[in-house]
Formats: sequence, structure tokens, C-alpha cells
Amino acid sequence: MAHSDVDTFFIATPIFYVNDVPHIGHAYTEVAADVLSRWMRQSGIPTWFLTGTDEHGQKIMRTALANGVTPREWADRLVEQSWKPLLKTLNLANDDFIRTTDERHETAVKKFLTLLHDKGYIYQGEYEGFYCVGCEEYKPAADVLEGQGEFEGSKLCSIHSRPVEVLKEENYFFKMSTFQQDLLDLYANQPDFIQPASVRNEIIAFVNRGLEDLSISRSNIDWGIEVPFDADHVTYVWFEALLNYITATGWGTDDEAFASKWPAVQLVGKDIARFHAVIWPAMLMAAGLAPPKKVFAHGWLLVGGEKMSKTNLTGIAPTDITDVFGTDAFRYYFLRAITFGSDGSFSWEDLSARYEAELANGLGNLASRVIAMVNRYREGVVPTMPDASDADQAISRVMSEAVDAANTAMHNFAPHEALAQLWRIVEAVNGYITEQEPWALAKDDGQAARLDAVLYTSLDALRALAVTLSPFMPETTEKLWVGLGADTSLGALQEQIIPDAGHFGVLPAGSAIAELSALFPRIEQDS
Ligand code: MSP
Repeated sequence: MAHSDVDTFFIATPIFYVNDVPHIGHAYTEVAADVLSRWMRQSGIPTWFLTGTDEHGQKIMRTALANGVTPREWADRLVEQSWKPLLKTLNLANDDFIRTTDERHETAVKKFLTLLHDKGYIYQGEYEGFYCVGCEEYKPAADVLEGQGEFEGSKLCSIHSRPVEVLKEENYFFKMSTFQQDLLDLYANQPDFIQPASVRNEIIAFVNRGLEDLSISRSNIDWGIEVPFDADHVTYVWFEALLNYITATGWGTDDEAFASKWPAVQLVGKDIARFHAVIWPAMLMAAGLAPPKKVFAHGWLLVGGEKMSKTNLTGIAPTDITDVFGTDAFRYYFLRAITFGSDGSFSWEDLSARYEAELANGLGNLASRVIAMVNRYREGVVPTMPDASDADQAISRVMSEAVDAANTAMHNFAPHEALAQLWRIVEAVNGYITEQEPWALAKDDGQAARLDAVLYTSLDALRALAVTLSPFMPETTEKLWVGLGADTSLGALQEQIIPDAGHFGVLPAGSAIAELSALFPRIEQDS
């Protein structure tokens, strides 16, 4: 059986910095993880979806101070007013939300540090070098640039184009270099551990150049988790943030819960792939724990050709889009328009065009036409399917092929491909209705069986679409499901098993359908 190797699915997003409010780049990571987890859950695979916030470190401390509040107050405010509301804006069905200020996290981080210290993987040394607060990262000399113009004489972070800080501190170090060969073996033995291939190659080249030990504590700031064996130090923010994936799932406190979930699939933006595919597995190896199942790096959302970010003033709030187009169109658009794993440009024009063509005119019209015809010609009752003609059989073939291909695509982390496959059904049925002309069949009593066949085939295809599109567009498909009367005849939409949805003939003949209001209302454009 295909995909029978997938017995559980635990997917985690990176945890988000609370120095600022969310933009659509963050929302993209969240939506992708949500859709993947909904798909797996509705395929009958035990699923866990974790997300949360990254609240310590210098970046947040400075933002809080600049706003005249304590870091804790700042973090609480941003989490309550911006980050948790994002879950609702995007309609995320996460199972847990971890904050790095949660006691469960702080306790387990200390336990982890103690374990590595006891095992001899942590030692004291001196760090002398650069640090970028924007990245919250120690920067090797190769990653800094000579400043020019207003930054003449400074060294700049190549990502933020802002001066890096020069540090000279007594720090604790993690013996990461010890794990160089183990990491290379992991990449070799598990070729799909890092995806896509471009990121994998870059990571392998990076590790091949040689790993240094990692400074994992800071002594000149206090907004962080105290190092358990030295109260003068707090834990380096990335070192503890990475641990959220195991502190949230019971490591060190609930072994059974932990064993039922770990290892996770890690979904990350490509900018933070190195932390997840190098440092993180090395930390786990040191603790004797399994590495993640996979680190999948998605690309960047570009606006005007640049990585969208608040710093570049290109940040777009998710609500700017959802207020106009709705949550489901947002979810659909980003996963359809961008090849998952590559960069993609966002534009309002492309969003409007796809909304119009694919959603309103494609799926929306199909659903409203079919349901209106069944109400008009068959008094709202699902007809019995007579013997299928070649044209009817062609539709049932597309249904089963497209659903199988979409399922394979989702297991390969290719939601754009899954949607393209499912749209083959939308297009095929739209073409079929144009060819079969049910409005003409309705005028001829001698064609009653053909009309039954066309209406049944179209309804059952909509049923398959509602089920398979529900992870992408939960609200719209629920409306469609109710319109098909399927909530009464087949039960809850979320209970329908996705990989089986392509089988033809599931909607019960004789059951009643309902009315359907427009799935994708026309957008009033201000121009
Ligand atoms: N706090 C760290 C992650 C720690 S995980 C242990 C962090 N946070 S972040 O808020 O800056 O970014 C979170 C996620 O948003 C990352 O996966 C990042 O790639 C993603 N994105 C931020 N801007 C983005 C785009 N413009 N496009 C796509 N994703 C982007 O890094």
C-alpha cells in the first residue's frame, strides 16, 4: 500500500519571534503546516501539529525596552494581541502552542543542559567574534561584509545589512564539532532528511567545510533561561528555542507522550534551515535522541523581488488579504501559486486573477450550477446513477487518478501539485457539463436517464472535491458539504477519509441536497 510507512505525523513550525507582529511570510509557514497536518489527520494518520512563539534574546529585550515595558510584558502583549489571533485569522487547527516563557519549556531546557553538561558535551571557553541581533546568531568572519556609506568602518550582517556587534565573552560551548561525521552519515543514510535538494546540497557543503563548537550561553543579558550550572549565564536563544519541539511534547516530563510523537517533521523557511538541519540534530545526538524525520525548507515570499519583511518595509499583514478575500482564499492562493520549496512572488494582481478564475469561476460556479440544476430538475434529490457512459466513466477515472496523485503529492510535501491535480477534476467536470448540456437533456423526457447520470456524476465529483479540498479550504468545503446534503447523508466532512475520496458513487441516491450560496463572493475592488 502506498504511504503505509507513515504511521504517525508530527509536524512543527518554527516558533515565531515576538519582537513584531506577523506578516504573510510567517502566515505562509503556518498555513502550509496546517494544510499538511489536516490532510494527514483526515487520512487516518495520528497527527500532531505544534506551533508557538520564541520570546527570549536580545532582539525582543531591546524592542521591549524601546517601548518602555519589560520583555515579559512585551511578549505577553504580542502573543495575546497578535500571534494567537493569527491562529484564528488563518483558521489553524494546531494541537498545541508553546511559548518559550512557559514553565514546561524552561524546566525541560535546564534538564537538557544538565544532561549535556553531565555527558561532557559542554565546556567553558571564550567567544570572540561577531553577533547579529537581527539573526540572533554568532557570525563567522566569512558571513560579514565591510560597511559602506553610513556604515563605513563597521562590519555588516550579510542578511540584515546592519552592523554586527563585536563580542568578547566567557561563554559555555557545545561540542558540536564532535558530530560532524555523524551528521554527514545522517544526510547520506537518509537522503530525504533535508529537502529540497538545493538546501540539502548547501547544508552538506557547509558541514563538509568543518564544524566549530557552538557558543550556547550569554553573560551580558538576562532575558533568557538561566544556565542551571552557572547563574551568571542565560542560554543562547537559538539553543533553547530549538528545544521547544521536544519540551512541548513531553521530553523529560512525560516519556510516553514524547515517545508517541517524536521525531517530528520540521517545516522551516530556508533562512533557518542550517539551525534545524545541523545544530538541532547535533543537539539531539548529544542527548541520545533521534533526529527529526525530515527538515523541509520552503522558499521566501518575495514582494517587489525582495524577501518580504518588516525591516524592508514590504511586510503585508495577513488580515490585509483575509479581510478582502477571506481566509480560505488566502490559504488556497499561497499554496497553489508558489511551488513549495521555491521562492515565490506575491502580487495583488495574481491573487485577484486566481481568485476570479480558479475559485469563483472554476470551483464556485461549478458547485452552484450543479446544485441549482439538481434542485430545479430533480427537486433537490440525488438521482440514482444509471449505467455509465464513456463520458461519465472518464470523470470517475479523473477523480480516482487525481485524488491518488494529490495524496502522493501531499506525502511529498508538494501542496501546489496536489491542488493542480485536484483542479483537473474541476476542469474535467466543467467541460463535461458543457458537453453533456444537462439543460437540453432536461427538455426531453426520453433523456431522463442521461440527465440522472450527468447530475449524479457531477454531484459525486463535488463530493470528492469537498473532501479533498477540506484541508486547504475548511470553511468553503463545509458550506459545499452542507449544500450537497452530505452532512446528513454521509456524516461530518472531517470524518471522510481523504485517500478514499476518489472512489466513485459514494453520495447516496435518494438523499436530499440543500441550497448553496456563492462559495466565493465577488470582490468589490476599490480602484
Ligand atoms: N524564532 C526563529 C525560529 C526559531 S525555531 C526554533 C525565527 N523566527 S521568525 O519569526 O523570524 O521566522 C519564522 C518563520 O517565518 C521562518 O520559517 C521564516 O523563514 C518565515 N518567514 C519570515 N519571512 C518570510 C518570508 N518573507 N517568506 C517566507 N517565509 C518567511 O526565525
